Amino acid sequence: MAIIDPKRYMPRSLFSRAALIVILPLIILQVLVSIVFVQRHFEGVTRQMSRSIAREMAVAQQVINTSPTAEIAQLRLINLARPLAMPMDLAETVSDVGQSRRRWFDLSGRALVEELRSLLGGEVSVDLVDDPRMVSVRLATEKGVLSALIPRVRVTATNPHQLLVVMALASVILIVIATLFLRNQIRPILDLANVSEAFGKGRSLPYRPSGAEEIRRAGSTFLSMRSRLERQIEQRTQMLTGVSHDLRTPLTRMKLSLELMEDEPEAKAMMRDVNDMEAMLDAFLDFAKGDHGEEPIFADTVALARDVADRSRRGGAEIDLRLPDHRPADASVMLRYNATCRALQNLVGNSLNYGSEVRLSLRLLPKTCEFIVEDDGPGIPEDKRDEVKKPFLRLDNSRNLNKGGGVGLGLSIAQDVAHAHGGTLELGDSSDLGGLKATLRLPR
Ligand SMILES: Nc1ncnc2c1ncn2[C@@H]1O[C@H](COP(=O)(O)OP(=O)(O)OP(=O)(O)O)[C@@H](O)[C@H]1O
Ligand SMILES: [Mg+2]
Repeated sequence: MAIIDPKRYMPRSLFSRAALIVILPLIILQVLVSIVFVQRHFEGVTRQMSRSIAREMAVAQQVINTSPTAEIAQLRLINLARPLAMPMDLAETVSDVGQSRRRWFDLSGRALVEELRSLLGGEVSVDLVDDPRMVSVRLATEKGVLSALIPRVRVTATNPHQLLVVMALASVILIVIATLFLRNQIRPILDLANVSEAFGKGRSLPYRPSGAEEIRRAGSTFLSMRSRLERQIEQRTQMLTGVSHDLRTPLTRMKLSLELMEDEPEAKAMMRDVNDMEAMLDAFLDFAKGDHGEEPIFADTVALARDVADRSRRGGAEIDLRLPDHRPADASVMLRYNATCRALQNLVGNSLNYGSEVRLSLRLLPKTCEFIVEDDGPGIPEDKRDEVKKPFLRLDNSRNLNKGGGVGLGLSIAQDVAHAHGGTLELGDSSDLGGLKATLRLPR
């Protein structure tokens, strides 16, 4: 059985929700007032006005009935018609008042007919169809049928829609004012959301808390959190660069001394170790620098994937590059070019280290772009996949004993780069090649 979730039908943005909260009651109020008003108008006002007409007709009927002859009745009727401003006529030969007629949608007409009937008895008919602006009433008397023509405006209030129009206009004005206010209240929240999102992607946008007190508070909390984080990152960078830099000087000295004693058999092995240490220091420096300083640019992802493959090929590696068949019109994404290259090179480097066949493919989806690096190596067990992304973490070395001195920063850097772009790094199994499948997913 399908379960209906009311939240699915709620508008998603804060602005439209707030607007709904303001506008919905306004519309309900309008509808309620309109119903009550229309009811009051037709049921109340029309009945009251009809009653006075009925009374005037009753007087005329009385005058006719009490006249000794029909001629006298005619004369009295003429005298009466003038002050009542109601042309009346007595037809002596006719004895039937005929049928009442009205249009089906003429609600006030129904009230009018009912009211005249109840006050004048059954012998009355009302015609509202012949001339819509006139009410033609026919009433039986002792001397024939009395007919009168009454302008409709005397029975039904004029311009009954005016109130509704005024009300609709007032609500439009209210809605416009409410919308303007809402917009102003929601802008600070949007601003805060935007700077937080940008910071999550590694950009520090200028921001000043504004708006209602609660939003200001959230804003200044965000600011102090951001500066604390920035300070921490800066300290980490400074420490790592400092240490790496300081270590480099004695290393260089050692290299020089080693070069002087080239003949010694141990010198060669030591030289290799020193070179490894230098490479590790470079990796530390890279990691410490992170992607700071590099500004995102609008870069072509196809060109980037080619670039990464070319760089590895130049190093003598073989890479199977798979680009989208039909190149989409918009393959460009905002990203830090060098950082993204470094992340991909780390992934490709891993695959080359741990496998032999390597494939780099690019997938462009509507909201994201995916760089997928696959290989035919041993892969990473599922329970280790989160762990290996941590800095300085390497899995057991038995499988890559003689494959260079890694420090365990490659995946960590790649993940940092992904996060700095608001993306992710996912590790899985390659169904085609059987090894690791690393997916660097960036939003576009
Ligand atoms: N393609 C792969 N196939 C199998 N295991 C992998 C693969 N890529 C990474 N690993 C495992 O994950 C660990 C961490 O990888 P990471 O790239 O972070 O460090 P590293 O390659 O050992 O060193 P570095 O990249 O810093 O030189 C590796 O030690 C390796 O055990
Ligand atoms: Mg690596």
